[in-house]
Formats: sequence, structure tokens, C-alpha cells
Amino acid sequence: MTDKTEIEEFASLVGGIGLKGSNLLSINDLTDEQILDLFELGRRLEPWNRSVVNLLPGKVLATLFFQPSTRTRLSFETAMHRLGGAVITETTPLISSSAAKEESLDDMLRVVAQYANVIVLRHFDDVEARRAVGSSGAPVISGGFGQWEHPTQALLDLYTLWRTYGRIKDLKVCIASTDLDHARTGHSMAYGLARLGAKVTLASPSNARTPDEVMTKIASLGASVDEQLDLEQDSFNELIYDMDLVYLPGCSAPKGPEADAFKTTMEKYLVRYETLSRAQGEGRTIYVTHTLPRRQGEMDLRIDATPSQLYFKAIAYSVSIRMALLVAIAGLEEDPGTLTTVVSRG
Ligand code: CP
Repeated sequence: MTDKTEIEEFASLVGGIGLKGSNLLSINDLTDEQILDLFELGRRLEPWNRSVVNLLPGKVLATLFFQPSTRTRLSFETAMHRLGGAVITETTPLISSSAAKEESLDDMLRVVAQYANVIVLRHFDDVEARRAVGSSGAPVISGGFGQWEHPTQALLDLYTLWRTYGRIKDLKVCIASTDLDHARTGHSMAYGLARLGAKVTLASPSNARTPDEVMTKIASLGASVDEQLDLEQDSFNELIYDMDLVYLPGCSAPKGPEADAFKTTMEKYLVRYETLSRAQGEGRTIYVTHTLPRRQGEMDLRIDATPSQLYFKAIAYSVSIRMALLVAIAGLEEDPGTLTTVVSRG
């Protein structure tokens, strides 16, 4: 296949997805077809995960992170570099940008949109962020808004699952956390799984269960969804023994007097290495993924070296699927023939 043919095929795939110039604030902003087409584009881009394919030369990505991040910001920035584009970033806007001088988020987005072709924004206040996005003249991708959603984390975890099984439909997935009330990634993932036909179980303490609004929306998608509340470690491990994937979105840990009680609750949702080994002995892999970062005591680190581990495999997949998303939203040149050829396949 010639490079020119390959670029024309990318152009055709990207055009078919139909996301050029769109915001991505919720996983529900994507149709099922768009999600599956992004998976296909991501798979086609994987050979350039560690090199460069020159699909977005001259385009600029701005990353504006009002909350800390390792994976989301750096994988988006890596994805843009791999596509031949450039990156500008603000990692501490409340200290080093004019947000520290009370510039509004609306004005910041108005200004940055004139430098960048796409903006990735992480913000602690989902209401403020969702409103202010309307002021941006460039498409905005959420890198996580408050406690609401983290759509590209779900997209990459869905993509990893799709690359592992070749499908999402009918997979049994348990989303488990000590706090599913505030788990923005858990909410996005539950929507995505439900949309693509997985059987979803949500496991959490009853005092931190999935919000009614999220449950109602999942149910409205016609999905198979089950809620398991207040499990102990034994019953949790019995539950996950029947699963294809255990999805751990993590959560913030309280400090001070509530810290010990939190640790006790966290232990109830410990995926036992022995549970995974028992399934492996029967020729079956229960996959485990954690959105990371994970805290001490949250996971049995022996799982890292088992076939169940998907959380580090997902890191590599995150670059390809974020490359696909950036290409789809930034769009290719009208005439793909003007693009230089593919270089440096990894
Ligand atoms: N999973 C995730 O969003 O990680 P970061 O907070 O490091 O971006």
C-alpha cells in the first residue's frame, strides 16, 4: 500500500466519523457508530504509537489543566506530537496563567481558541466548565470535569476492552468503587458499556452509590444493569469471579478522622489475587483495569504481572485512541494530497 493511498484511507475514515469541529464533553456526545469508528481509526493508527504519522501538521493542541494529571494531559500531548502537530500547555492555570488574576474561564477559552485548533480542558467545576465551553471558538475535549464525566478515559478503557475481546457486547463488567457517587470515570464508563451492549454491575457502599440521575440514564439506554451494595470482601470476590472485567475507577480518599474508616471500606473492594488465579486455573481470565493513579493498599500489586492486568496495557492504547479523536475533531486538510507522506512507522 502506498503512503498516498493510506492517507486517503485515513481521510475517508475521518470524514465518515463526522466529528470535525465538535466538542466532546460527555461520552454520550458520541453515537455508537462514532465510538466504533473511532476504535477502527485508533486501531489503524496503532503502528505510529511510538513514531510519527504526519496527519495534523501545523495544527496546535492546547491543554488547560485546572486539576493535576499525569496520564490524560501527557497522552493527549503525545498523541498530538505523534500526529505531527504542536502543543501548548497550561498545567497550573490558577498560579501561572491570568486565571490567577481573576480572568474568567470564558475569556481564557476565547483567547486560547485563537491560538489552538483543539483544546483539552480539565476543570474542577463541571457546571462552570460546561457553561464556559460555549465561549470557545475552538472545539473543546473534556479531560475530566468535576465529578460529572471523564469521557476520554472511558473511551480509552472501552477501546482497550474492544482490542482485548474484539467486542463489547455481552461482556460482563463490574464497576466497583468505595465511592460511585463522585466517580466521574465510572459514570462515563457505565454509559459507554451500556451503550455498546455490555452487562454492567455497579458495586459500591450504599452511602456512596451511583447517583439516581446516572442510573436513570443507563436504564434509558435499555442496558442490562445491576447494582450491588455494601458487599464484604468475600462477597465482592464471589461477584467478580463471574466477570469478564473488573473496572476500578478509584476515588479521592478523605484525610483526617475519616481516613481509617475509608481504608476499611477500601479493603472490601480489594480484588484478590487468589480469585484471579482460580479463574486462570480454569482457563479463564478475569481482566482488571484501574483508571490510575492507584493508592497504597488499593490493589494487590501481584496482579501487575498476571494476564489479568489491563491498566498498563491501556496506557499504550490511550495514545492511539486519543490520536484518533484528535484527528477526527481537528479534521484533515480538505485535500489529503497536500499532506506529507507517513513517516517513521514505529
Ligand atoms: N486516569 C487519569 O485521568 O489519570 P490522570 O489524573 O493522571 O490524568
